[in-house]
Parts: sequence; structure tokens; C-alpha cells
Amino acid sequence: MRRLALLLFAFLVAAPGETLTGIVVDAQGQPVEGARVRLRATAAFVLTGADGRFILADATVAPDAEITAALPGHIIGGTVVRSGIAEYRIQLPAIPAGDDPTYPWVTAFPEDDQAPRTDFGREPCGACHRRALAEWRESAHSRSATNPRFLSFFEGGQRLGAGKVTVEACGTCHVPMDPTGDPQKFTGVAGEGVGCDICHKIAEAKAGDGSATGIRAVALRRPPFGRQTIFGPFDDVPRGRDAFAPVFAESRYCAACHQARSGAVAIYSEFEEWQASRYPAAGTTCQSCHMRGDGKATTMTELGPGRIVRDPATLSSHRFHDSRSPDFLANAVETSMTAHRDGGVLIVSVDIANRGGGHHLPAGSPMRHMLLSIEAESGGTPLTPIDGSTLPSWAGSGLAGKPGRAYAKILGDASRPSLPWAEANTVTDTRIPAGDGDRSTHRFRLHGSGPVRIEARFVVRRTFPDWAETLGIDTAEIVVATHRATLGP
Ligand code: HEC
Ligand code: HEC
Ligand code: HEC
Ligand code: HEC
Ligand code: HEC
Repeated sequence: MRRLALLLFAFLVAAPGETLTGIVVDAQGQPVEGARVRLRATAAFVLTGADGRFILADATVAPDAEITAALPGHIIGGTVVRSGIAEYRIQLPAIPAGDDPTYPWVTAFPEDDQAPRTDFGREPCGACHRRALAEWRESAHSRSATNPRFLSFFEGGQRLGAGKVTVEACGTCHVPMDPTGDPQKFTGVAGEGVGCDICHKIAEAKAGDGSATGIRAVALRRPPFGRQTIFGPFDDVPRGRDAFAPVFAESRYCAACHQARSGAVAIYSEFEEWQASRYPAAGTTCQSCHMRGDGKATTMTELGPGRIVRDPATLSSHRFHDSRSPDFLANAVETSMTAHRDGGVLIVSVDIANRGGGHHLPAGSPMRHMLLSIEAESGGTPLTPIDGSTLPSWAGSGLAGKPGRAYAKILGDASRPSLPWAEANTVTDTRIPAGDGDRSTHRFRLHGSGPVRIEARFVVRRTFPDWAETLGIDTAEIVVATHRATLGP
């Protein structure tokens, strides 16, 4: 008897959940095949069959649970779970047709800090998505139109020996909300650069042939007056205007702006470098690293009806982590130095490995570079190098000619880089592919037997010092790693 009671108890505790069945139809009432159906904010989903039907078996239904359904190309639909419903019917509204070029972009910035009363589609995104707003403001995307380095190169080409560039040559990526406007005279929301609304109007990335870039390489779906559509990575946001777009979780999404050629030369090349790495096979996308969430946030918005608690692992960061994020770059590289005496010679070896970059290191535009410089001295006098590589003239005064190594993609003449947008049909690429490493060995003549001090430093810079000086901008140097050693007598 006791045994039976136990069994009964076990059965009750492990009671199977409910079975929810229903059908998903489109705006015309026709069954939709292949729609993703789930209990909102839970991990598992099922696909509808050819007859549009779904069965959510063994579902643990919380109070106020909702069933959602989504198919790319449609607005997400949903319905609340209620007792006594045998057959749910979920309709997927159509996405407003076409792309309306007169759509006025919605700003990221709330005018004031008050909670919005409505959510009719033109409320500043950041009014509700406060965390995303704060992260994005820290990112390079929010400054892509106003970054002084961008603007100096845009108008300063002549001073560096190249012709003036056209507005659109830069605008499709840097000022995508007004790509044909002059970046120096933009007004309003265009100055927000790569902003919330433009990114969330991307329905699909076009399979690029490399000739179209930025917003020309994506399918934008801007709704007509009075409507709103927001594309995103989630299939369970049933608020009547959100559309599930799987491309948001794929590297192709970023490739529109992070991959571009000028003739045969890849100017921006993170995407093709990522493709050649081991990361695509491992399912590691640009977003996996650059939008990795903090693991703490439990909601994608701080306000707004329809807000729900979610697994932190499903949420991302809009910081678009870069070399200015604390430790992002330092954690991605592994460096070490060894030094020893061999008779009258000092031998220094420095290793670097690109462990965490999803592409070549350093990444970014071709004027980005990383320099290793090595100094050895004894009794206050620098030791004379015997062999090993030296830094090129473009490393700038103080470093040019010194023992070290340059990691860079140089367009034009390897000793005199040309502007990325100028005619440049030669490339010297000494950067470190993802997962690879590099060792450089340098020998110095020892004078005497006193203690020797050695220092190796890796720095990255955003542009060449002489260009920075001509344009009156900063190279924004970052020290990646420093190694020091002292060899006794
Ligand atoms: C460069 C394009 C880009 C910009 C700019 C951008 N987003 Fe996103 N957003 C994405 C991508 C890509 C994802 C999907 C991330 C993923 O799958 O990890 C996403 C995801 C989201 C999500 C889903 C929640 C989450 O954590 O993934 C919300 C909400 C969102 N963005 C709101 C915003 C807001 C608000 C802004 C402006 C402050 C903004 N986005 C700016 C590309 C962008
Ligand atoms: C009134 C508050 C409010 C405003 C304003 C707002 N959102 Fe949202 N947004 C929400 C809520 C609530 C959700 C659903 C949250 C959830 O499901 O966890 C959401 C969801 C999203 C998603 C996820 C959609 C998906 O299917 O992946 C994206 C992306 C997004 N918003 C972007 C934006 C952008 C871009 C703007 C500005 C044009 C904006 N939001 C303005 C409240 C708001
Ligand atoms: C509409 C074009 C566009 C899209 C789409 C886009 N980016 Fe960007 N991104 C830019 C531009 C332009 C910059 C340079 C901004 C600047 O520094 O002036 C940039 C800068 C960055 C940076 C910082 C680079 C630096 O030098 O510090 C990172 C990281 C980045 N993007 C990651 C991504 C990821 C990841 C995605 C996909 C989820 C993405 N971007 C999608 C245009 C875009
Ligand atoms: C495995 C993680 C990882 C993946 C995947 C990845 N990145 Fe990166 N990315 C990094 C790290 C770490 C850095 C900093 C080191 C550097 O500059 O190379 C970086 C640097 C960058 C930079 C320069 C930013 C700066 O300030 O140094 C850009 C732009 C960029 N990545 C874009 C992309 C794009 C676009 C993709 C997808 C095609 C991508 N990344 C895939 C980790 C990754
Ligand atoms: C295909 C899209 C695209 C086009 C077109 C484009 N850029 Fe960029 N630009 C980017 C991306 C992505 C980055 C971020 C990588 C980096 O920081 O190097 C960037 C970075 C830069 C930077 C470095 C910013 C910094 O702070 O380090 C400068 C300068 C720049 N672009 C100038 C220009 C100019 C000038 C033009 C037009 C002649 C132009 N870009 C055209 C995508 C583009």
C-alpha cells in the first residue's frame, strides 16, 4: 500500500504538462507551413506542418503564458493560453509591403527621461530600451557619422595626396540614414550614424557581389506612413509590429558594412577573414563575440507593455565590443618573451598568437596597425641589433628603424601606404589570421657583462602618425601587452 502511494505521488509530481494544439494561418487565413511555434520566452519550439497545424506536447504552462508563432516575411503572431481551449488559431499579419523611402527614421534618444505613454511606433527606441541605448552610445556605431577621424579623412583626402571622395562612397556605411547627404552637414537623426532604427529595418542581407555596400547591400523594409515594422532576432515578440528575421543572428548581417572591395583589393575584410577561419564551422558569429551579453540582464527593455523576463543567455549587448572595451583586445591575444645570452650575443624571441579574434589581427580599416618594438640596454646604453626585422618608416619618429615587427595590411607601396580609397592595387598583409601566431627573433651585440634590461611592447593604432599629424587627429594608440626582463651578469 505504501509502495502504491509512493508511485502515485511520483506520478503526480512528474505529471506530464498540457498538450496545446492549433493552427497558424496567414493574413488571408491560409495555413502556414514551417512557422516556429513556442510558449513565449521558453527554449523549445516546434514547426507547423503542411496543414499549418502544431502540437506543443508536455508544455508547462505558467499563468499568463502566451503561444507565439513566427515565419520570416510575416509579423509575429500570438495568443494567450486559457483553460478550455482545444484549438488555438494564430494569425500572422503581413509585413507592410515594399520599402518606403520617405519613412522618417525614429531617433534613439528620448527627449526626456519620462516613461512613454504609448508605443505607436515613433517613440524614441531608447525611451524603453535604456540598456541597449546606453551600450550603443558607447559603441563606434553611434559615432560613425560624427567620429572626427572619419570626418577628417572624408574631407582631408587631398592633403594626403588623393582626390576628394564622393559623399556616397562613405555614406552607405557611415551615415546610412542619409547616405547621399554631406556628412559634414547632416541634420537630425542621420547624425546618429549606424542607429537603432536603420539596423532594425534590415529584413535580409543581399548575397553580395562586393559591389554594393552598406545599406545598398541589405533589403530594407521601411513601412508606409502610420505603420511600424521592427525586425529582430526573436520569433516570440507578439506585439503586432515585430518580425522575426534570422539574418540578425548571422555574420552576413554585419558583412554588408564590414566587407568591401575597391577593385580587386579588400578594404574592409573582417567577413571574408572570418569565413576562412574555424569560427563558421563552430557556429561562432560576429554577434557571438561583439554582441556577447553581460549574462545578467533579464529583459530586453526597461519599459513598455509586452515586456517579459528572459534567460540572460538569450540577450545580447549593443556595445559592439571593440579594442576600447576593457580587456576585449588584451584577452584575445597571447604574448610572451624569452631572452638569453649566447656568448657575446643577446637573443630575444617574442611570440604573439591571435587566440580570440574572429578574423585577422588587427582588424578594421587598412590604416589600423599593430607594432611590436623591442628595446635592449645595458648600463644605460642601447644594445646594437645584429639581425631581426625592423620597423618601417611609417611607424613614425621614435619607432621607425628600431628592432620590432609591424602587423598591418598596407595598400600601395609597402613602405608608403596609400589611402584606402585611392587607387591601390598592391597589398602587403602581415597581420595574424585567426588562430595563428607569429614569432620574431632578434639578436643584439652585448657590450660587457653587466645586467641587461629588455622590453617588448605591442601597441595598436588607428592610423599612421604622419597622416594623423597632417589631419590634426589622434592615432588613439593602445598598449596591448608589455614584457620586461632583466638578465643578470
Ligand atoms: C549595427 C546594427 C544594430 C544597431 C545599431 C542596433 N541593433 Fe539591436 N540588434 C542588432 C542585432 C544584430 C541583434 C541580434 C543580436 C544577437 O543575435 O545576438 C539585435 C538585437 C536587438 C534586440 C533584441 C534583444 C537582444 O538582446 O538581442 C533589441 C531589443 C534591440 N536590438 C534593440 C536595439 C536598440 C534599442 C538599438 C539602439 C539603441 C539597437 N538595437 C541598435 C543590430 C543592431
Ligand atoms: C514603448 C516601449 C518601446 C519602444 C519605444 C520601443 N520598443 Fe522595442 N520592444 C519593446 C518591448 C516591450 C519589446 C518586447 C520585449 C520582449 O519580448 O521581451 C520590444 C522588442 C523589440 C525587439 C525584438 C523584436 C524581435 O522580434 O526580435 C527589437 C529588435 C526592438 N524592440 C527594437 C526597437 C527599436 C529599433 C525601437 C525604436 C524604433 C523600439 N524597439 C522602440 C518596447 C519598446
Ligand atoms: C549599416 C552599416 C553597418 C552594419 C550593418 C554593421 N556595422 Fe559595425 N560599423 C560600421 C561603421 C561605419 C563602423 C565605424 C564607425 C567609426 O568608427 O567611425 C563600424 C564599427 C564597428 C565596430 C568597431 C570598430 C572599431 O574600429 O572600433 C565593431 C566592433 C563593429 N562595427 C561590429 C559590427 C557587428 C558585429 C555587426 C553585425 C552585428 C556590425 N558591426 C554591423 C557599420 C556597420
Ligand atoms: C571569436 C570572436 C570574434 C568573432 C567571431 C569576430 N570578432 Fe571581430 N574582434 C574580436 C576581437 C577579440 C577583436 C579585437 C582584436 C582586433 O582588433 O583584431 C575584434 C576586432 C574587430 C574589429 C575592430 C575593432 C577594434 O577596435 O579593434 C571589427 C571592426 C570587427 N572585429 C568586426 C567583426 C566582424 C564584422 C565579425 C564577423 C564577420 C567579427 N568581428 C567576428 C573578436 C571576434
Ligand atoms: C563598406 C562600408 C564602408 C564604407 C563604404 C566606408 N567605410 Fe569607413 N569604416 C567602415 C567600418 C566597418 C569601419 C570600422 C572598422 C575600423 O574601425 O577600422 C570603418 C572605419 C573607418 C575609419 C576609422 C575610424 C576610427 O576611428 O578608427 C575611417 C577614418 C573611415 N572608416 C573612413 C571612411 C571614409 C573616408 C570613407 C569613404 C571614402 C569610408 N570610410 C567608407 C565601413 C565603411
